[in-house]
Parts: sequence; C-alpha cells; structure tokens
Amino acid sequence: MDIYTIISAGYDLLLGAWLKDGSTHPLTAAAGLIPDKRSRVLDMCCGTMSNGLAIAAKNPANTVVGLDRSKPMLRQARRKSGKMHLDNVKLLCRDAADTGLRDGCFDHIILGLVLHECTEQLRRDILDEARRLLSPDGTLIVIEWEREESISRKLRFAPVYILEILTTPRFFKDFYHSDKEKYFERHGFIVRESIRCNYTTVISMSKREAGV
Ligand SMILES: C[S@@+](CC[C@H](N)C(=O)[O-])C[C@H]1O[C@@H](n2cnc3c(N)ncnc32)[C@H](O)[C@@H]1O
Repeated sequence: MDIYTIISAGYDLLLGAWLKDGSTHPLTAAAGLIPDKRSRVLDMCCGTMSNGLAIAAKNPANTVVGLDRSKPMLRQARRKSGKMHLDNVKLLCRDAADTGLRDGCFDHIILGLVLHECTEQLRRDILDEARRLLSPDGTLIVIEWEREESISRKLRFAPVYILEILTTPRFFKDFYHSDKEKYFERHGFIVRESIRCNYTTVISMSKREAGV
C-alpha cells in the first residue's frame, strides 16, 4: 500500500496549511500562467487535482486532464470535480512515465509537488514523457518546494521537511537543495519565468528543440 492510499482523504487539509501560509499561493501563480482559450492542459501526477481544478474553474475554454496512478487520490479528485460541476475535466489512471497518450497533445502540462519524491530515473522518465506530450509551443509548469532563507520560515516548514525525508529519504534532500532552474535546463527545457511562492517556486518552461 503506498502512502497516498493512507493520506488521500486528508491530503488537501495537510497541504493547505503550508501553501496558504504567506503571500502568494502556488496554485494561483500556476493558474495565472494559463490563458482562458481553447487549449488542452494536463495536470500530470494530479493527486486530488487542486491545481487542475483551479485552472478548469478559472478557464472554461480549457480542457483539463488529471492523470495519476493512485486510485484513492483520483477518487478525491473526482469527488471535488463533481462538487464544482465542471464539464471541462477528465481523469485518467496512468503511470506518468508511460502514459500511452499521443505526441504533442497538450498545450500546458503541470507537474505539482511530485518530482522531489521521485528517484532520479523516474524524475527523468516523467520529464521525458512531459516533453513528448507537449506541443512544440507548449509550456511545462513545475511547482516544487523551495528553500527558505529565514530561520522562522525554516522552522515553520520543518514538519513538511521531516515528513518528506522520512518518506523519500534518498531523493528528497538532493532535489530540494538543488538549483532547479539549472536542473530543468539540463533536462531539455528553457526556463521562461520563476515565481517565488509560499515555501515553493513555480517555474514555467518551454521545450528546447532537439539538438539545440
Ligand atoms: C505529493 S502528490 C502531489 C499532488 C498534486 N500534484 C499537488 O500538487 O498537490 C504526488 C502525486 O504524484 C503521484 N505520482 C507519483 N508518481 C507517479 C507516477 N509515476 N505516475 C503517476 N502518478 C504518480 C502520486 O500518486 C501522488 O498523487
């Protein structure tokens, strides 16, 4: 049984406590990067789909697909989407590293708070799949935990930090302390914008053309 089977029902409450604690909510920043025009958005590793549902509600012209491998997390996403009466949302139970979807079929892809919990290999596989699924002019938007400067913010973030280290001891620390912009540049993306939010950074990128 994976951790998301246990925490799916309380996940939004757990996360909300930190993401709301400050000035800019990453969800608002990410949604602000996607215009309300006919386009396809993939919330990859969507979990309970807070990001994708906020975008679907803000942008009725978008079609928003939520994809995750955890059925309990998708169940929460379906419950929330039903409550919001959104008709521009679809859910898929798939592995993000091997979605089986066709090349270039999304204009925007969001990867929210997942890469830090992946092995280096899975992280690369998910990013390769995101590159493949993005249209040539598409945008990849990554939301990731970001290092805090002040002692008080570090202390407030400590429970999340400890939980992440306990659940993914080998991968979290390396990625959390890395320079993420450089990491994505090394993996075939061009960083267009970074927005500092509560305990997180929202990074918007485009694909670097093959061989460039
Ligand atoms: C920390 S949650 C983040 C959920 C959501 N994106 C957010 O920002 O709140 C990570 C999610 O990634 C999903 N996940 C992890 N590896 C995956 C994979 N290889 N394929 C599909 N989903 C995956 C987990 O099931 C979980 O729902």
